Amino acid sequence: MITTDQTVQTFLDYFRERGHELIPGGSLIPPPGDPVLFTSSGMHPLTPYLMGRPHPLGRRLTGSQRCLRTTDLDEVGDDTHLTVFEMLGSWSLRDYDGPQSLRWGFELLRDGFGIDPSRMHVTVFGGDDRVEPDHESWRAWEELGLPVEPTVDENWWSNGPTGLCGPDSEIFVWTGRDLPQATPTTDDRWVEVWNHVMMRYLRHGDGSLEPMRRPCVDTGLGLERLVRILRNTQSVFEIDLFDPWRTTLPGLWGPLDGRSLRVLSDHLRSSIVILGDGVTPSPSGRGHILRRLIRRSLTTLWRDDPTRTLSDLPIELVDHTLEHFRQPVPGQYVHALLLEEEHKFDLLLQRGRKILSHRRFSGTLAEDDYRYLHDTHGLPRDLVVYLTTEAGVDRGL
Ligand code: SER
Repeated sequence: MITTDQTVQTFLDYFRERGHELIPGGSLIPPPGDPVLFTSSGMHPLTPYLMGRPHPLGRRLTGSQRCLRTTDLDEVGDDTHLTVFEMLGSWSLRDYDGPQSLRWGFELLRDGFGIDPSRMHVTVFGGDDRVEPDHESWRAWEELGLPVEPTVDENWWSNGPTGLCGPDSEIFVWTGRDLPQATPTTDDRWVEVWNHVMMRYLRHGDGSLEPMRRPCVDTGLGLERLVRILRNTQSVFEIDLFDPWRTTLPGLWGPLDGRSLRVLSDHLRSSIVILGDGVTPSPSGRGHILRRLIRRSLTTLWRDDPTRTLSDLPIELVDHTLEHFRQPVPGQYVHALLLEEEHKFDLLLQRGRKILSHRRFSGTLAEDDYRYLHDTHGLPRDLVVYLTTEAGVDRGL
């Protein structure tokens, strides 16, 4: 059965055989001026080149990039979402056109990875009051014999409120046990694996769209989702990449229910990678996202047993993660930062418990109480809910 590493290699080899140069994967911190907090797509390190600057390696590029998406944080624990994940990408910088990219994408999935075309469905941009349907992509898919579903919002990609954007076309693979049925927007057993964006426009601050003289193509394929499909596992958490997490965590902290195991594997692994890229926990910005991930891990851990601690997390697991992402940071250092954050959170909870034990807070809390606790004692609402209600403990932070 194909491994995650072999999947990466197959993808990169395929594009290198077609004249693409390999770019090294970069940090989760995007280049200056990029509107996003974290690199959330493989194209972020390439933004200046997609905008027009010549790339030193040429006009056809390929690579694998670590990404982080927080919009999906509450969905982590389901079968497909991860906070930190890898995106395999191919790019045409004002070189070949969209249909060529779609044809290569289809052929790689069919011939390189052996996915039966009868399990594929695609979506294309169906047009709105400003931009025509993406006829070119639509035609290309029809020629390849794949079923096409047009959508509007879901097939428009933009890198933030201004900047690069354009219609996109997504390839879905059927993951159900029965024969494929329905369409990607009506049945979630169709899992999106590969997005091809036709970067044709620049959006300005006033909302206007300026067509680019020579468009680019930007594609992104979710590695873990593809491996899940190729290895036919129930979720992304059962692929080989997560083996060390799945086998180690229950041994450390006793039986964990399925969802807790998934949340812990995802959040701890993501926290290690973010720390490895030089971010430290803080009250706002990137550090806040990191803090949230660590606190959510801790409330998940402590729900069944408050004596559990991250000091039990083996350094080997930290090192394994840092090595996978080629982050040259000592595991000991990252481990120490995790423990420091656990200690701070523990002190905050102790302080919160003490304040909340006051008679004034013994009944149901009113809006005024939440405001007072926040403004005077610095206790955020979600923390108070966590400390005072069973539902809060259950949900965690
Ligand atoms: N930028 C596109 C995406 O993130 C394709 O890489 O889906």
